[in-house]
Amino acid sequence: MGTESELKKIAIFASGAGSNAANIINYFNDVETTRGARVAVVVCNRPQAGVYDVAKNAGVPSVFMPRTDINNEQLMLSVLDKYDVDIIVLAGFLLQIPDFMVRAYRDKIVNIHPALLPKFGGKGMYGSNVHRAVVEANEHVTGITIHHVSEHYDEGRIIFQASTEVTPDDTAETVEAKVHELEYRHYPDIIHRTFIAPGN
Ligand code: GRF
Repeated sequence: MGTESELKKIAIFASGAGSNAANIINYFNDVETTRGARVAVVVCNRPQAGVYDVAKNAGVPSVFMPRTDINNEQLMLSVLDKYDVDIIVLAGFLLQIPDFMVRAYRDKIVNIHPALLPKFGGKGMYGSNVHRAVVEANEHVTGITIHHVSEHYDEGRIIFQASTEVTPDDTAETVEAKVHELEYRHYPDIIHRTFIAPGN
């Protein structure tokens, strides 16, 4: 479906291991099953992150941009322009997205949060902190929230949520594994349905 120039270009922003990035790249960049988009670049703010290897193994270019570069409007927008980026996907990206990017990509930036927002969102609620807080609060369910990114952290319009049970013998680690499973199952598909093929 579509020649190279017709494909929507996705930039993935990630700060960590990049298992979601790998899953999203697998979904969109498989030439046999083109889904109307491809991941054109991975942007990462941490020099040692695992996501560089993920990008390299998949043949996707990656760019290291520390916080000062991400917040540099001219530089940041020129990188997105260079890769012809239409859609920005945050996958474990730990920095706040600057307002100029939200304005330039209004309704085109999506994030995944590893809990059921508005619960367990906000400052400090990222990675294993979230799962630890869920277990400590004796929650019976947790899940994922996929949402648009607005000027306010974790407050953009919710697109999709999915939940999973938390049992008394769960630990932060087992909850994390359950949540990752939901992320892998749903994130690429929701990106596809939201930006590439609405109505499918
Ligand atoms: C995911 O759980 C994501 O929801 C959260 O950070 C984690 C990133 O994991 N925001 P990975 O880097 O995709 O493996």
